Amino acid sequence: MAKSAPSFRCAECGATHAKWSGRCEACGAWNSLVEESPLSKTPGSGLGGAKGKLIQLSALDTKEAPPKRALAGMPELDRVLGGGLVAASAILVGGDPGIGKSTLLLQAAAAFARTGLKTLYISGEEAASQVRMRAARLGLADAPVGLGAETSLRDILTTLEAERPDLVVIDSIQTMWSDRVESAPGSVSQLRAAAHELVSFAKRRGTAVILVGHVTKEGQIAGPRVIEHMVDTVLYFEGERGHQFRILRAVKNRFGPASEIGVFEMTGAGLAEVANPSALFLSERGQAAPGSAVFAGIEGTRPVLTEIQALVAPSSLASPRRTVVGLDSGRISTILAVLESRCGIPFTGLDVFLNVAGGMKVIEPAADLAAAAALLSAREDTALPADMVIFGEISLSGALRPVGQAENRLKEAAKLGFSQAIAPTGTKADGTTGMSMRKLGDLVTFTGEMFGAG
Ligand code: TYD
Ligand code: MG
Repeated sequence: MAKSAPSFRCAECGATHAKWSGRCEACGAWNSLVEESPLSKTPGSGLGGAKGKLIQLSALDTKEAPPKRALAGMPELDRVLGGGLVAASAILVGGDPGIGKSTLLLQAAAAFARTGLKTLYISGEEAASQVRMRAARLGLADAPVGLGAETSLRDILTTLEAERPDLVVIDSIQTMWSDRVESAPGSVSQLRAAAHELVSFAKRRGTAVILVGHVTKEGQIAGPRVIEHMVDTVLYFEGERGHQFRILRAVKNRFGPASEIGVFEMTGAGLAEVANPSALFLSERGQAAPGSAVFAGIEGTRPVLTEIQALVAPSSLASPRRTVVGLDSGRISTILAVLESRCGIPFTGLDVFLNVAGGMKVIEPAADLAAAAALLSAREDTALPADMVIFGEISLSGALRPVGQAENRLKEAAKLGFSQAIAPTGTKADGTTGMSMRKLGDLVTFTGEMFGAG
C-alpha cells in the first residue's frame, strides 16, 4: 500500500488539512490541529472507521520486558495467577456464595497492600464496618487497604480515577450498577456493562482489577460466565461445603498456565495455604480398604495425589444408580462401558458410587485407570495395596494410553512413601528411588483379564 502523507484535523471544527499550521484556516481556532492516522476512505467502503496501526510481527522487539508482576507472598495464590499479579490485568474470581471468595480476596488485598501496592477493596455487599470486622478477625486490621462500600459504578470509577490504585477488588460484580444501562442490577446487560467499564479502566490506567462473581443457580442474576471472555484471567474458587478444603483453579489465564490450582484450608482465622496438598488429600485415608485407589495426578504444573473411592452395591432399581462426585460422570459411564464390553466385567444390576476424597475435582483423563481400579476393587471387595499409585487414560478400545508428566507423578508418589505404581506400558520410574512398576495384570489379581491391549 502506498504510504500517504499525514493529515491534520482541527479538534474544533473537524476540517482536515494537509499541512500543520498554528491556526485552522477553516474556523480560525488557534493550536487546534492534531495529526491523524493517514487514511483513508477506501472508495465505496463507507465504513467510516479509523484505520488501526499495524506492526509487522517480524518487527516486534522480542526483548520487550515481560509484564510487571507483583507477588502477594501467598504462594498458592501467586502460582495460580501464573507467577504473581500482572499490572493492568483483569481477573475474575467466581465461586458459589459462601465458599470464601470475600475472605480470600480480603486476605489477598491485605497481602498485596503490605508489599507496597496501593490497594482498594470495594464491597457492594457489606458495609465498610462489616468488612473491617472481618479483617480484624483475620488479623488484617492494620493492613493498608482502602475500604469502600459502594455499588454505583459511576462513583466507583470516579474514586478510582482519583485514587489510581495498583489493585482494586470489586466484591461482587453482580452488585454493581451502571446508570448507562436501563436494566436492573445483576442482569446480564448490567454485568457486562460494569465489567466492560472496569476492564477498560484496568487497561487505561494500569490498575489490576479483581472482580468477584457469584455462581448463581437461578437465571435472575447473571453468573460470572457472561463476563469470562472480557477478562484476562478466570479463577474459580471451589470446594464442598462440608469440607474445609478450598481449591482456587485457573480456567483461563493469559499470563500463565491454565488449570493451575492453589489449595487452601478454611480455618477459624480465614484461609490457610496448603503447601502439600497430596498429604492433605490422603490424610483421611486409613488402612487399605476395598474401593480405594490412589491417583497420581497433575494439576497445572504440580503433581497432586488424590484418593478415588468407589462403592458398588446390588441395586433394587430398574436403572441402577451412577453417582459420581469430583469426577466427570460422562467419563465414568465410558469406563463402565469399556469394562463391560471389552473386559467382560458387567456392572448391570449394581449401583455405582464414585467420589474423590477431600472434595477435590479431578478432570484429567489420566484418572481413568485409577477410577477403573477403584470400581474393580469395590466390585470384588478386595483392597488394592496401600502403597500403590495408579494412572493412565483408557481408550474406547480398552487399551491404556500413556499420559504426560509420568515422571513427576511417580516422584511425588515416592516422596509420599508409595512404592509401587501401575501405569501405561513404557512408563519408566527412572530416577524415582524405591518405586517399582507393576504390570496392569497385577491390578487384576482379583478379576482375571482386564485391558487386553495393556
Ligand atoms: P465468604 O468469604 O463470606 O464467602 P463468599 O464471599 O464466597 O460468599 O465466606 C463465608 C464463609 O466462610 C462463612 O460461612 C464463614 C466462613 N469463614 C470461616 O470459616 N472462617 C473465617 O475466618 C471467615 C472470615 C469465614
Ligand atoms: Mg462475599
